[in-house]
Amino acid sequence: MKSNKSTNIFSIGIILLLLFTTGCYYDQVLPVEPEGDIHYAQDMQPFFDARCASCHPDDSQPDLQLGTSYNSLISGNYINTSDPSSSKLYVKISAGSSMESFATETERAMTLKWIEQGAQNN
Ligand code: HEC
Repeated sequence: MKSNKSTNIFSIGIILLLLFTTGCYYDQVLPVEPEGDIHYAQDMQPFFDARCASCHPDDSQPDLQLGTSYNSLISGNYINTSDPSSSKLYVKISAGSSMESFATETERAMTLKWIEQGAQNN
């Protein structure tokens, strides 16, 4: 096939389009759905320690410090195991709420899953 200016421009266009679209695909940050059982000590408390505890000391509502956070969440009615997604802990870190920016998609999903699994102190 004889190559001319317009086919070259067309090919470059296609290549740029491919680079652009595949580039976008790989740039997407897909939320990681947490698998298996969520454990309070191994999963939830490290999340609170890393993202929440500095602003939620032991005299706050909820207290999210290691050792006292679980009791604070339960006694403060932040957890509703019969309707997990309405739990105040979950609602507060979800889209449109004031703590939204402190949790990632994965941490939100983990929190909901932990509540769905019975919100155990495990
Ligand atoms: C920069 C400080 C800061 C960080 C970090 C922070 N919080 Fe808060 N949090 C606050 C303040 C201030 C309030 C009270 C005002 C409000 O409700 O927005 C609050 C309120 C809350 C409430 C509602 C309390 C109530 O009784 O109404 C919950 C639940 C909560 N935070 C959970 C979290 C969780 C979970 C994290 C970590 C993902 C977190 N917060 C991180 C400062 C913070």
